[in-house]
Amino acid sequence: MKCQRCKKLACVALPSHHAGFCKDCYPLFFTRQVETAIRREKMFTHDDRILVALSGGKDSLALMLELKLQGYDVTGLHIDLGIPNSSEGARSKVEKFCDAHDLKLDVFEMEKWGLPIPDVKQYIDRPVCSICGKMKRHHFNRIAREGGYDAVATGHNLDDEVARLFANTLRWDTAYLSDQGPTLPAAEGFVRKVKPLFRLSEFETANYSFLKGIDIHSAPCPYSTGASFTNHKELWGELEFRSPGQKFQFYNGFMQRGKAAFANLEKETGATLHPCDTCGSPTSVGTCSVCRIKASVAVKKAEWLSESEYEAARARA
Ligand code: AMP
Ligand code: FES
Ligand code: ZN
Repeated sequence: MKCQRCKKLACVALPSHHAGFCKDCYPLFFTRQVETAIRREKMFTHDDRILVALSGGKDSLALMLELKLQGYDVTGLHIDLGIPNSSEGARSKVEKFCDAHDLKLDVFEMEKWGLPIPDVKQYIDRPVCSICGKMKRHHFNRIAREGGYDAVATGHNLDDEVARLFANTLRWDTAYLSDQGPTLPAAEGFVRKVKPLFRLSEFETANYSFLKGIDIHSAPCPYSTGASFTNHKELWGELEFRSPGQKFQFYNGFMQRGKAAFANLEKETGATLHPCDTCGSPTSVGTCSVCRIKASVAVKKAEWLSESEYEAARARA
């Protein structure tokens, strides 16, 4: 196959675009997709300050590099989750990447804040990944709000978005369906959220990271069961293979023709929000769910520690 642009030998084949690109022209294809996403979805402008959430994985680092190359005012945010044998590696990849590309970086440590993720796993009897995701989103928004940023950008790609939309559709989860999309406008207490890689598949961002020589953190989280969207992603891989372009059609079709119906539905049932009495983040009750989880872990940990001290004293007696 020949490169669509320069006619040299292509090294990346993209059946959904009926095209292939060589290693020099591929990044240009990537750039065009990100530019189109930002422009059509009104994500941000060159006057905006953007906080880019960096996990250390291929997607978020590719996004950060691309936005910097496009001249945007970007600052990285890494959340150090405090997970042994995992978080250190991710953080060091992010720090080295930002150093190498002369990028501003803010690191937020869950342990210093008082709630490393291993404590959530130990003391809360709910799936750790969903609470961890909630914590991360909470801090992305809080740090962006307190720092006066105009938008928070994450590295979610087309596969992430399609898998989430598919899962929400299977459950007809109207609240989530009304919220799904590459741009979530700012609202009272919420900074605008954007996903500039939503037009690009996981394969496409992986190729960009590889061709740009980005050193990524690729180890999966040790707490991940591999469950969440993996099955759906596999199903969509099969559909896309049989009919290239399906993923984007499904997602784009929902955005163009489906989403509005769910947004109208939710407007009628949506709860009123107030600032959390502990952290100031928007919540429909007095104390937000993140602050309640933090307080509950603190109580359970104190109980556990005093029980083990009692047992130790009994053993000594
Ligand atoms: P994931 O849900 O792990 O696939 O991550 C989706 C996006 O969330 C990534 O592309 C990042 O933009 C962001 N993200 C995930 N984990 C972190 C983290 N520990 N610190 C900062 N951003 C993160
Ligand atoms: Fe949050 Fe694994 S990344 S539990
Ligand atoms: Zn709170």
